Amino acid sequence: MQSSGNTVLITGGASGIGLALAKRFLALDNEVIICGRREEKLRQAKEEFPSLHTRVADIANANDREALVKWTLNHFGRLNILVNNAGIQNRIAIQKANFTWSEYQQEIAVNLEGPIHLTLLLMEHLQVMAQASIINISSGLAIVPATWAPIYSATKAALHSFSTSLRLQLEDTKIEVMEVLPPAVNTDLGGTGLHTFGAPLSEFADAVFARLLAGEQEIGYGGTEERLHLTKKEQDTAAKQMWENFKHHNR
Ligand SMILES: NC(=O)c1ccc[n+]([C@@H]2O[C@H](COP(=O)([O-])OP(=O)(O)OC[C@H]3O[C@@H](n4cnc5c(N)ncnc54)[C@H](OP(=O)(O)O)[C@@H]3O)[C@@H](O)[C@H]2O)c1
Repeated sequence: MQSSGNTVLITGGASGIGLALAKRFLALDNEVIICGRREEKLRQAKEEFPSLHTRVADIANANDREALVKWTLNHFGRLNILVNNAGIQNRIAIQKANFTWSEYQQEIAVNLEGPIHLTLLLMEHLQVMAQASIINISSGLAIVPATWAPIYSATKAALHSFSTSLRLQLEDTKIEVMEVLPPAVNTDLGGTGLHTFGAPLSEFADAVFARLLAGEQEIGYGGTEERLHLTKKEQDTAAKQMWENFKHHNR
């Protein structure tokens, strides 16, 4: 990935990992567009980094995704880096699942439909760029699921699979496909205070950003680096251990 002169769209870029990456792209002289649902969060990000471009868009909604791509291409004339970062994480006790389907479906729509649809919407445009990158932010839970967040873990496993297929289909093009598999990182994912035990955000973002610039395809950090190399048996054992720990701490 070239370090400067890119036009970058980061979904969910007003907080957490998205904003940390936005800040690093801005520092290297790139045009950076972020989107999210909360106007107030986008306004705060713009106040902190005035050169950011912001747009309200709900990535769970197909019409919003189409409008976002249209607006971006009309407004900037080009886009060569897509960062599929927006995500939500819900804890779901399957035996007591009594919400409506549309509430469960939201998690699939943001975490999985969004990245796939945005990729397809931008494919024609990315192919005419001299150099382009699609960066998918999945999770270490793509490899070893968090049983208490079953839909989330499934969406991330699917995004991991989609990233692999995309990379292979695009191997003879100038579009590089990168995937970041974060471990727990200290952000507000899933609600304030649920990830305070995670890696410090700026240390994580510095390490990941350097590896993105170096062109690495699958980027883990801490424990998720090892997860990429586990056997199926080790993955299953790790999932079981994590579930037992969770039950122990949430009795
Ligand atoms: N933190 C971790 O431990 C961790 C670990 C593994 C993977 N990840 C992944 O990293 C990515 C970033 O998460 P984060 O940790 O930085 O959490 P975060 O601070 O909660 O950021 C998530 C961002 O996504 C946006 N978003 C959520 N739903 C959206 C929607 N429907 N449309 C548009 N934007 C939406 C949120 O903004 P609005 O609410 O304003 O829309 C928010 O800015 C996610 O994909 C997450 O799954 C995080």
